[in-house]
Amino acid sequence: MHTGVCYFPEHWPRDRWETDVERMADAGIEYVRMAEFAWNRMEPEPGTYDFEWLAEAVELVGDHGMKAVLCTPTATPPKWLIDEYPSVRRVEDDGTPLEFGSRRHYCYNSPIYRRESRRIIERMVDRFAGNEHVAGWQTDNEFGCHETVRCYCENCTTAFRSWLRERYDDIDELNDEWGNAFWSQEYNSFAEVDLPGRTPANEQQHPSRMLEYQRFSSDSVVEYNRLHVDILRDADDSWFVTHNFMGDFEPLDAFDVTEDLDFAAWDSYPTLHGQEAPDTPDPDSEAGASIQRVGDPDLTGMNHALYRGASDGAFWVMENQSGDIRAYPYSAEPADGMMRLWAHQAVAHGADTVSYFRWRRCTFGQEQYWGALNNYDGSPDRGVVEATEAAADFDELPDLDATSGDVALLIDYDSMWALHNERHTPDFDYWAHIRAYYRALRARGVTVDVVSTAADFDTYSAIVTPSLHVVDDDLAGRLADYAADGGELLLTVRTATKNEYDRFRDELAPGPLSDALGARIEQHESLAPGLDTRVRYDGDTYDYRTWGEWIQPEGATVVGQHESGVGASESAIVRNEHGEGHVAYVGVWPESALADALVVALLERAGLPVSEQLPENVRLTERDGHTWVTNFREEDVSVDPGSGTIILGEETVPGRDLAVVEGPAHEIAIRVEQ
Ligand code: GAL
Repeated sequence: MHTGVCYFPEHWPRDRWETDVERMADAGIEYVRMAEFAWNRMEPEPGTYDFEWLAEAVELVGDHGMKAVLCTPTATPPKWLIDEYPSVRRVEDDGTPLEFGSRRHYCYNSPIYRRESRRIIERMVDRFAGNEHVAGWQTDNEFGCHETVRCYCENCTTAFRSWLRERYDDIDELNDEWGNAFWSQEYNSFAEVDLPGRTPANEQQHPSRMLEYQRFSSDSVVEYNRLHVDILRDADDSWFVTHNFMGDFEPLDAFDVTEDLDFAAWDSYPTLHGQEAPDTPDPDSEAGASIQRVGDPDLTGMNHALYRGASDGAFWVMENQSGDIRAYPYSAEPADGMMRLWAHQAVAHGADTVSYFRWRRCTFGQEQYWGALNNYDGSPDRGVVEATEAAADFDELPDLDATSGDVALLIDYDSMWALHNERHTPDFDYWAHIRAYYRALRARGVTVDVVSTAADFDTYSAIVTPSLHVVDDDLAGRLADYAADGGELLLTVRTATKNEYDRFRDELAPGPLSDALGARIEQHESLAPGLDTRVRYDGDTYDYRTWGEWIQPEGATVVGQHESGVGASESAIVRNEHGEGHVAYVGVWPESALADALVVALLERAGLPVSEQLPENVRLTERDGHTWVTNFREEDVSVDPGSGTIILGEETVPGRDLAVVEGPAHEIAIRVEQ
């Protein structure tokens, strides 16, 4: 478990590098990421290259016993390139091409941009292949940041039509599968199919067309990333290749991109993400105060789990928050201890390296207000002190594998895109819905894997498929088989409502899963916060929110009923024995008490231990037989490790601190100190 940092040598005078690199090594840093946006410094004029400054920086890093991680610099095409080839620019849905002046102003499908990318990457690898100080590469930077996955340029139009031609035998099949008889939307040829730009009913684009466009856009990034990966692997197969993804990021299928990488990395800014998410309290409310100082542990944790799932093992945090950041609407200083605690949280979830953004706060350009380990005058800030402590902690801990848990949550980008195209209410956010279950499981100390629909289901005792909206027959069959073979499957609202073309079937949901469930969904409604939404489950009454369904049992046992609204007394939650296991369906979006009751029942059915509910903002995370106790609260908590042994920290864990126990999570008891 290692520490890294992002460094931009091109931002500092040459005679400062030595001091910086020396201090990095003193802080216990082992990896230094460089060259992320430095295309223009490596090719100041077309065809004139200068890699010597970077080679010098790499050498310096190596001389101090550290390794360099280099980046393909394609997130920032230089001005001369844009002037020479204006057609490489990304175009907005209203037809506006993006101007030079920030970053990510290019289109993934531009043949010219692909050629130019290939050229600069090949030159870079020629210079650095075989260099013993270079450990690996990051491709580009945050594909899709600033909403740049989807583009509406002519290159994309051509590429979209070819992509469709590959998927459909002919245009009649496309018309048929999409249902283009609706509003006279039939096409006579693929050449007539445009990208879904602005229309009069812009919020009501054709769902099948939108979903295909979203798949196509994500695939375009996958293909563009592969261009980088192929060149890097050909040049030096000892290099690892990764990419830095973002948190709760919708438009890009991280599982697909990671297929071509050695592992995924992501950029974790807890106080930023906590303020943006719809399922966290408003930052200016009393409850939201902690979000501003520590972030939302389950939001950060679920993203760690997602990128562990995409990596099928250890992942990296490429950019860990290292102080205050230029977040909106507020950018409070993180609480003391958070830079160390966030690093441990990442490692607990399976990160092999935690790299901080950035070494020193910049004195120019767009990110002067974005914090760093060191202040802009070069003096140490709180971040570097805490990063040094975390690095020393990691040295004390044994090497651990990034192991899997017994419970999986399925994330499916097709379902997310389709649901967000037809939310049916502004409150229907896919990440938030998944997190309702993630939070409940984590509050019971369960280590949760977040995996794609391609995962090997049989390795899990229980699987939750929150709003798995788009389901084809093959996936339905695999899920039903999983339950038949003894798995515990929990389906939630809107599951299997649509087929792979984003249409209702001629039978009620959950379509191909109805037999395994022994029930069908008769009605659904989206519900404003003011409406009375109560459900009776297992002898208690619970609140729910946002979405409700009425279920018609066809053999399943009814375990929950609506108690309010037009559907009062209709079935809301059912469970069915299927082969050796069970399929259950929750037809409401549960508030936390109901989510807890549901996951406890699921764990019991799966024969997994059920621990006491943890205090809010305290989490247990198991990795390879070791459990991290992470205390995001202000107060101390005390730890009873059961049969385990505390190998880092003490029995009293101060606020914003941690302990590591050699032993399983379910034996650990936590008490908040008064
Ligand atoms: C990340 C990005 C970095 C830097 C940082 C602060 O999202 O990868 O390059 O921009 O945010 O803005």
